[in-house]
Amino acid sequence: MATHRFDPNFTNNVINAMGPKTEPRFRKLMAGLIQHVHDFARENELTVDEWMAGVKLLNWAGQMSDNVRNEGQLVCDVIGLESLVDEITFKLAEEAADAPTATAILGPFFRADTPFRNNGDSIVVTSAKGGEMAFMHGQVMDFVTKKPLVGATVEVWQASTNGLYEQQDPEQIEFNLRGKFRTDEEGHYSFYCLRPTPYPVPYDGPAGKLLQLMDRHPFRPAHIHIIATYEGYRPLTTQIFDRKDPYLTNDSVFAVKDSLIVDFVPRQGDPQAGLELTYDVRLARA
Ligand code: BEZ
Ligand code: FE
Repeated sequence: MATHRFDPNFTNNVINAMGPKTEPRFRKLMAGLIQHVHDFARENELTVDEWMAGVKLLNWAGQMSDNVRNEGQLVCDVIGLESLVDEITFKLAEEAADAPTATAILGPFFRADTPFRNNGDSIVVTSAKGGEMAFMHGQVMDFVTKKPLVGATVEVWQASTNGLYEQQDPEQIEFNLRGKFRTDEEGHYSFYCLRPTPYPVPYDGPAGKLLQLMDRHPFRPAHIHIIATYEGYRPLTTQIFDRKDPYLTNDSVFAVKDSLIVDFVPRQGDPQAGLELTYDVRLARA
């Protein structure tokens, strides 16, 4: 007769304690979560001290979070969960040359209230020490027909050369290195920005503690965040990565996709920028 080290009915009892009014999708998610967490505890014979260390880390993440710091999301990011959910959600966006632009994670530094700027404006409002200026431009188009999408919104944000986004840094003017742009009559957008530089994700909290315990560095490869939207099309959240960056192959939050790697090239005759990046965004119908 098979013997069980632990009560074989325990997990089912916990799952079945959910009442009939539980919404079906929530029931499915909770049942799966309870099953996996219980299996994890049994398989590893989790000790009380280890479980309590996890509880403390969760509490610490909550206590540290506010409107400019999302430590819960950061903890998910360093264990690859946001990147995995992105992959699951956007599996259809295959990484082929003629596919829609691939997605990448939003990350914790998006700001919903970013203002519109005019095409050709600079998002560099507070100067950045050692920063290299770049002119970024391109077209937003339907990925199948290649038809330019007129009036599409392109929102971008990037960290400064000190590794900080404006909401993390009192020295930067609000909305520095952020902007929303609307594509013109030919579907073009354009703006001046910094060549992005690598930066560490905040590591003075629980996500940093986890990285340290896993013997990992906190750096993200240099990137620019993009959200592109157009009526009737799937909104795109993504990031583009500088091919020259040393962290491309070991991003601390596992967000790099080959098709999102870009090349900054020298720009001639422009006193505002020595570099240029041409980047077209290919959207898919909703
Ligand atoms: C970011 O790209 O801004 C980011 C993503 C995940 C964790 C931390 C930062
Ligand atoms: Fe970022």
